[in-house]
Amino acid sequence: NEIDAKQYNADKGEFKHYMLKEIYEQPDAVARTLDMALESTETAHSYQLRDDFLQRHETQLSNIRHVQVIACGTSYHAGLVAKYWFENLIRIPCSVEVASEFRYRNPVVVDNSLVICISQSGETADTLSALREIQKHSPTGLVSLALCNVPTSSLVRETDIFLPTLAGPEIGVASTKAFTTQLAALMLLVLKTGVTQSCIDDERLYTLLENLHKLPNQLHASLNLDASIKAMSESFEDKKSCLFLGRGLQFPIALEGALKLKEISYIHAEGYAAGELKHGPLALVDKDMPIVVLAPKDSMFDKLKANMQEVHARHGELFVFASEESKMVAEDRLHVVYIPDVCETLAPIVYSVPVQLLSYHVAVMRGTDVDQPRNLAKSVTVE
Ligand code: G6P
Repeated sequence: NEIDAKQYNADKGEFKHYMLKEIYEQPDAVARTLDMALESTETAHSYQLRDDFLQRHETQLSNIRHVQVIACGTSYHAGLVAKYWFENLIRIPCSVEVASEFRYRNPVVVDNSLVICISQSGETADTLSALREIQKHSPTGLVSLALCNVPTSSLVRETDIFLPTLAGPEIGVASTKAFTTQLAALMLLVLKTGVTQSCIDDERLYTLLENLHKLPNQLHASLNLDASIKAMSESFEDKKSCLFLGRGLQFPIALEGALKLKEISYIHAEGYAAGELKHGPLALVDKDMPIVVLAPKDSMFDKLKANMQEVHARHGELFVFASEESKMVAEDRLHVVYIPDVCETLAPIVYSVPVQLLSYHVAVMRGTDVDQPRNLAKSVTVE
């Protein structure tokens, strides 16, 4: 890792770990990624998609009828968010699968599919093999796209379209800024596809573009919560197991929060769609089980609140990231950190920050090797 660091000339500077530095780089990394596609206008709408964004690929994008996302680890979680966006915003069906399963199960890839391989490194063996497997069968109208942080990688070389994340080098094994830039780029791709196929209405498009422009500032504001999240993390130091809950667009962030916590703090953690609580995990809830909840005031909030009450009634301790608008108030066994208001569609990007910070502080407290956790590698280039 030290060698990587020198190679990239990436100094930790004031930060104790690369991971923390990379968490703090997110507003800039996301802004850079958005700048690929977003420009201000003098018209009634303040922002529009730049003409040159994926311009060469408009014909390919106009023909796709289905999206297949393939990825591993954190990149897979970005794909799960994209599924909600593709289907909800532009009504294009989207399947998402971990590459290590996809490559071995003889899957059906329908004609006119866009295959999106998401990978920070572009060298993950399973993701590359899954892509090659699809290419071997060459379904009609197949278009492959690499959403990748490394322009010179194998993945970029082997795909039709390269959509970069401009995160800059990521050194911490646990992915942070690569994830939020993947999300930003996926949203741009969904919007571009929607415009190309005329399947997104103008008002929705322009509102989202304006909200995207605000995103780096909202990420800044969520970083300002660092001290409160650090205080919250003290309750996790001696815990054995933890649940992360979310619904809708926050479900993948619950999975990502659980992955971050287990990767770097070695505490067992599981992410769950909160509606599934009653089908199993509720049996685990007791006073020693911390439960982290991602609770923006969105269309699923009332349902989620009922899920939180189920946990509270069983003496579980709740750690809730909520919007102020939700009017959630801390009480016994209910801790609340308010996250800056953000539109429902983009909330998963902003809510990624508190779960990263929480995991980071828990890991530091437990004295683990945050940047290079045991048994894990930054890029898994062998099966
Ligand atoms: C490893 C890393 C993870 C990463 C995953 C996929 O497991 O430790 O942080 O999410 O690989 O890597 P990729 O480079 O394909 O995004």
